[in-house]
Amino acid sequence: MNTLVMSDLHVVVLGAGKGTRMKSDRPKVLHRVGGIPMIEHVLRTIQPLNPVSATVVVGHMANMLRAALAGWPGLQFALQEPQAGTAHALLQTKRLLEGKAGCVVLLSGDVPLLRTTTIEKLVKVHRQTGAAATILTAIVEQPYGYGRIVKRHGEILRIVEEKDAAPAERRIREVNSGIYAFDLAPLFQGLKQVGTANAQGEYYLTDLVAVYRRERRRIATLPCDDASEIRGINSRAELAEVSRIVNQQRNEALMASGVTLEDPATIYVGPDVAVGPDTVIHPGVHLEGKTTIGSACEIHAGVRIVDSHLADGVTIRNFCVITNARIEGGARVGPFAHIRPESGVGPGAHIGNFVELKKAIIGAGAKANHLTYLGDVTVGAKANVGAGTITCNYDGERKHQTVIEAGAFIGSGTELVAPVRVGRDAYVAAGSTITEDVPPGSLAIARGRQVNKAGWADKRKGS
Ligand code: UD1
Ligand code: CA
Repeated sequence: MNTLVMSDLHVVVLGAGKGTRMKSDRPKVLHRVGGIPMIEHVLRTIQPLNPVSATVVVGHMANMLRAALAGWPGLQFALQEPQAGTAHALLQTKRLLEGKAGCVVLLSGDVPLLRTTTIEKLVKVHRQTGAAATILTAIVEQPYGYGRIVKRHGEILRIVEEKDAAPAERRIREVNSGIYAFDLAPLFQGLKQVGTANAQGEYYLTDLVAVYRRERRRIATLPCDDASEIRGINSRAELAEVSRIVNQQRNEALMASGVTLEDPATIYVGPDVAVGPDTVIHPGVHLEGKTTIGSACEIHAGVRIVDSHLADGVTIRNFCVITNARIEGGARVGPFAHIRPESGVGPGAHIGNFVELKKAIIGAGAKANHLTYLGDVTVGAKANVGAGTITCNYDGERKHQTVIEAGAFIGSGTELVAPVRVGRDAYVAAGSTITEDVPPGSLAIARGRQVNKAGWADKRKGS
């Protein structure tokens, strides 16, 4: 569908409800599905449609929701206070939308699996039929909890909510998705006629059907091809089920693009993560944020990578945490390494077990293989950092820089008291505490001299 057709399209997303069944202190629509708040799935779905306006109705913990969505450009907010039902929620957009031409698509912040193509189809059908309201429905096996579409001779009569439904109505399997297209012209006068005579004493948007029938306006329904798209999240159990579907869809797309996932049900890859072909991901791996992984990488079990870049052919061994870092081609990290923000591991470099990097730039082919803390440091190409080396980068007030130049050799158990520089190809003897720069090519020994006292042990025993 072209943008011309969408040119007088407005979108409203409902997110004001408390979500009582979640038993949560946070707004329901901020609970995460597949790594991002569920309402952001909805916002992503509408983005390609380029609507004239997009409005989120906020209410319960409105400020928290507003703040969470502050990064979305052009988003408007309408406040619903108190949260008196879905019709009342939509009515709060009157100030923003009344008098505008065209139609509004109403989406629910708790229905995150909906596809853009489904919204496009809804708008298309809405325009073709000339209806005042078009309701997206679905035929489901388990209609429990949804509003039921009551029809006679194929024509919709009303929507009845679970709590208000008679036993025969509860058997109806066509349900309301909570997603609609409305012509703006009659909408707000219609909403004002909705009352609260129902089990929950709320202004139900679904009652607009009855209002429009009285006014002899046309109401169309469109059954969704894939009923799973309209699944709503009202409880933690549904949150887990929908998350599983999102994860499965994501992982299927990754596998289709040439990535091997061992035991995909345990692997979580966020929506903004890219992974190159022939990369193998082992069980229990989480890839989050804006992470890019090259091709032919191997990421072993239990690894978490956030906002990081891995070039091609990188190996991450078991149980590493990598945040906001770059790992260049052919490098090897782990097991049990912690790569903290603003670190970079150069091509072919090796970072081994129980090594922590923080603002550490490790040169090509350099090695730090065991039990080491490298913070605020640059390590030159092919340098070797021995086991148990520590950069003493913090004096209690400020952080200081350590430089280890190319080819340098840092003996095991060395403390580098920053600011300090170890020159090119220099050696530091094991167990040194280095407080002064080491000139290129020299050997620094900075440790207490060993004294051997002959016969001391025997004398102590008094023999
Ligand atoms: C609603 C529909 C139901 C449909 C189902 C689909 C009504 C009365 N019922 O029921 O027919 O089958 O969705 O998922 O519309 N909200 C507000 N303000 C409020 C109340 C709710 O903004 O005062 C928002 C919620 O944050 C949520 C959405 O509206 O995003 C739906 O509310 P919810 O209480 O979950 O409605 P359901 O009982 O699921
Ligand atoms: Ca719901």
